[in-house]
Amino acid sequence: MRILSIETSCDETSIAIFDVFEKEKNLNFKILSHLVHSQASLHAQYGGVFPKMAKREHGKNMIPLFIQSLIDAEMLKKNTLKKNELNTTPLEREPELKESLENFLREYDLPKFDLIIVTEGPGLEPTLWVGINFAKFLSLATNTPLIGANHMEGHIVSVFPTNEKVFSIPKLNFPLLSLLVSGGHTELVLIENWGEYQKIGQTRDDAVGEAFDKVARLLGLSYPGGPEVSKQASLARQNNIKPPFTLPRPMIHSKDFDFSFSGIKTAVLYGMKDKIFSEKEKAAIAKEFEDAVTEVLIKKTVDATLKYGTQTLIIGGGVSANTYIKEQFKKVNDEKNLGLTILTPQKTMTGDNALMIGIAGAMKYYKSKKIEDLDLIKASGNLSL
Ligand code: KG4
Ligand code: ZN
Repeated sequence: MRILSIETSCDETSIAIFDVFEKEKNLNFKILSHLVHSQASLHAQYGGVFPKMAKREHGKNMIPLFIQSLIDAEMLKKNTLKKNELNTTPLEREPELKESLENFLREYDLPKFDLIIVTEGPGLEPTLWVGINFAKFLSLATNTPLIGANHMEGHIVSVFPTNEKVFSIPKLNFPLLSLLVSGGHTELVLIENWGEYQKIGQTRDDAVGEAFDKVARLLGLSYPGGPEVSKQASLARQNNIKPPFTLPRPMIHSKDFDFSFSGIKTAVLYGMKDKIFSEKEKAAIAKEFEDAVTEVLIKKTVDATLKYGTQTLIIGGGVSANTYIKEQFKKVNDEKNLGLTILTPQKTMTGDNALMIGIAGAMKYYKSKKIEDLDLIKASGNLSL
């Protein structure tokens, strides 16, 4: 079946078009188009995502992205429909999107998919609605089933695409453990089977990505801070520069699987208060921060794999782009002979994207073959797994 998937949970507008077919109970995917438009540079001036602007930008960028996706998938067709046959009611609250969609409809036919999948949450509700309302419009106008997908489940299954256009879901031994580390979440999820998740631990305050972003701001680095902090940390590591102060490893010895990262950020704030540090010293603070976060993530995750007997560890979410964290996980796995298979996403799949949403939605659909009532699909900021 041919599927369209849409992601707008934060500051990336993303669309994927792909084919899925089931062969000997295996799901196979063929990507026809996968595009991500990031607004990060626009939000950089605010040091974080500004929801109102993010919503407006999604509305402006959706149709140009949609047109490019249809070109990639060879599905763009000049108009043969009468424009006034279409009902744009779902777009009443999306003025930017409505306007560009009306222009689209003057020129092109709406393409027909077999299934549409859209992110329902968790995420920013105003931005989620842009994707959902667009998906509802398409679903109604072309009489196509629509299902909602969970953004965090998307980050879990983001590890499956390879560098090829064609990939399949490998057979893995359950239970699996997933460490999800993004700008909004830090959680350890036990996966009993696809669709059966148990959150065994989570952050009690800031998410890891959020802590990276806040520390970046304290160090005068730009948003999104993760890659910047990591670059500085790596420089300090190469040059063996000692940090001017050490940072705590919060909750590292607590017997549960919860995390807390706001204390590390506050310790950076106090450590830097009323002092002037050189660029080298700031790089060393970045290194100390990355070390602290990595140690806590590894300790809790390894303990969880031992407690639950999981052989496969999936690391997903924006912070899974962090090379140092991934290297350290591999190192500990080797040094302690843990025998874990560690799956991480390809670089292009670490951030928010529609392909991971499409995979999560397709796996859900093939498992249940259930289509939801359109009215029940809604933005849900805190949707959990
Ligand atoms: O998953 P994601 O794209 O969006 C959310 O769902 O939150 O994650 C974004 C987060 C940001 O906080 C960003 O700073 C962080 O991922 N991030 C990184 C790296 N690349 C992105 N954090 C640490 N190291 C990186 N290389
Ligand atoms: Zn995300």
